Amino acid sequence: MKDLTPEKSSLDPIEIASIDEIRSLQLDRLKWSLRHAYENVPMYRERFDAAGVHPDDLKSLSDLAKFPFTYKTDLRDHYPFGLFAVPRDQIVRVHASSGTTGKPTVVGYTQNDIDMWADMVARSMRASGTRPGDIVHVAYGYGLFTGGLGAHYGAERLGCTVVPVSGGMTERQVTLIDDFKPKTIMVTPSYMLNILEQFHKAGLDPRESSLEVGIFGAEPWTNAMRSEVEEAFDMHAVDIYGLSEIMGPGVANECVETKDGLHIWEDHFFPEIINPETGEVVEDGEMGELVFTTLTKEGLPMIRYRTRDLTRLLPGTARSMRRMEKITGRSDDMIILRGVNVFPTQIEEQVMATGGLAPHFQIELYKAGRMDAMRVFVEADPKAADEASKTASARMLTKHIKDVVGVSAEVIVGDPGEVARSQGKAQRVIDNRAKE
Ligand code: DLL
Repeated sequence: MKDLTPEKSSLDPIEIASIDEIRSLQLDRLKWSLRHAYENVPMYRERFDAAGVHPDDLKSLSDLAKFPFTYKTDLRDHYPFGLFAVPRDQIVRVHASSGTTGKPTVVGYTQNDIDMWADMVARSMRASGTRPGDIVHVAYGYGLFTGGLGAHYGAERLGCTVVPVSGGMTERQVTLIDDFKPKTIMVTPSYMLNILEQFHKAGLDPRESSLEVGIFGAEPWTNAMRSEVEEAFDMHAVDIYGLSEIMGPGVANECVETKDGLHIWEDHFFPEIINPETGEVVEDGEMGELVFTTLTKEGLPMIRYRTRDLTRLLPGTARSMRRMEKITGRSDDMIILRGVNVFPTQIEEQVMATGGLAPHFQIELYKAGRMDAMRVFVEADPKAADEASKTASARMLTKHIKDVVGVSAEVIVGDPGEVARSQGKAQRVIDNRAKE
C-alpha cells in the first residue's frame, strides 16, 4: 500500500492548531450556537428556561453540562420542520432518516451549512488519502439518506472527479470500477464485501484493481474487518463517521497515516461522553454515550444531541483534534443475553478470527423457553465449503464466542451466498423474540 499521508501544507490550519486555539474557537462558537438555538427555536427556549439556564451562563466549555439534552424523539415530535432555526425559505436542502417505525426524522441545511458539510467531507477525504484530481466512486445511497449526496459534495469540493453510482446493482459497480479506475471508493463496509464477492464472480483480481482508498462508514465495523478488506484489495480502509441529525458523513474521520480512531472535526462539532444512565459527563478516556453540540450550524442547531453511539474520547495524534475510538455499537443494538452485554461488532471480530468462514454474518435472537437465545448465521468460505470443514468452523466459532464474548450461541454455517447481503447498512440483528 502506498504512503498517502497528506502534505502538511494541504491541511486546514485549525487541524493542527494548538489545543488552546481550538478551545478558544469552540467557546466563541458555542456561545453563538446556544444563543442561536435559544432565540430561534421555541423548543430550546422552553427547555433552557425550564432547566433554569440561559446562553449567558456559558462561561467555559464545561458549563455546557448545565444545558439539557436533545433526543431523536424531539425531532419526531417537531416533525417535519419544527426545530429549524431559520425561516423555511432559507433551507436549501432537507434529508431524512428512513425510520423503521413511525415518522422519519427530518433535517435541514442552509447554504452555509451545505458549504461547511462539503468542507468537512473534503477534509475527511484528504485525511483518508484522497487527493484533488482523483476519481471517486460513490456507492453510498443517494436520496434522503445523507451518505450519497454528502460524499458527493465533499468529493467535488476537494476537486475530484465523482462517479455518483449510489448503492445496488453490484455487477455494474464492479464493471464501472474496472472501466473508470477510481482511486477512492466511498461505501458501507458491509456493501464493500458484496462488491468484493462480485470481483471474484467476474473473474477479476481485486488486488489488481485501481482502488487505493476505501472510506467506509454509516455502520459499525471492526479492525478485523479492516484487515480483511485491506488485504483483499491491497488498499487503505479508513473509517468515516457521521449522523444526519448533526450533519451527515464527515463529523469525524480517521487519518490514513495512523488509522487509530476518528479525529472529530471539533471546530464544528463539540463532543462529550456521558454515562447514558445518569447523564453525567465522564472524563476523556472513559467509555460512554457520545453527545454532540453543533458549533456553526444555522438551519438545525443541535444542542447536546444524544447519539446513542458508544465510544470514548482520546487525545489527538495525527491532528490536534480529539479522536473517538471506533464505535463499539449503538446502545439500541446492544444484546443482553443472560446478563451479558453483547454487541454485533464482538461477533464480527470472532467471525473474522475463525478460519474457513466468509465475512458475512447475521444474528438471530429468539426465545428458548423463557430465556433469550442467540443464533449466529455465517457461511463457509467458498474454499472450505465441504461438510467436514463447515462442522469444524461451526465448532470453532461457537468456542470463540463462548471464550471471548462470554455467551453461548448456536452457530449455523451455511453454504456460500446463504447469508443475506447488504446493499447499504447491514441488518446485523433479527429479533424474533416476540414471535415464539
Ligand atoms: O449513516 C451518515 C453517514 C453516511 C456516515 C455515510 C458515514 C458514511 P444516519 O443514517 O443518520 O447517518 O446514521 C447515523 O450510523 O449514529 C451510528 O450509529 C452509525 N454510524 C455512522 N457512521 C458510523 C461509523 C449516516 N463510522 C448512525 N461507525 C450513527 C459506526 C456509524 N457507526
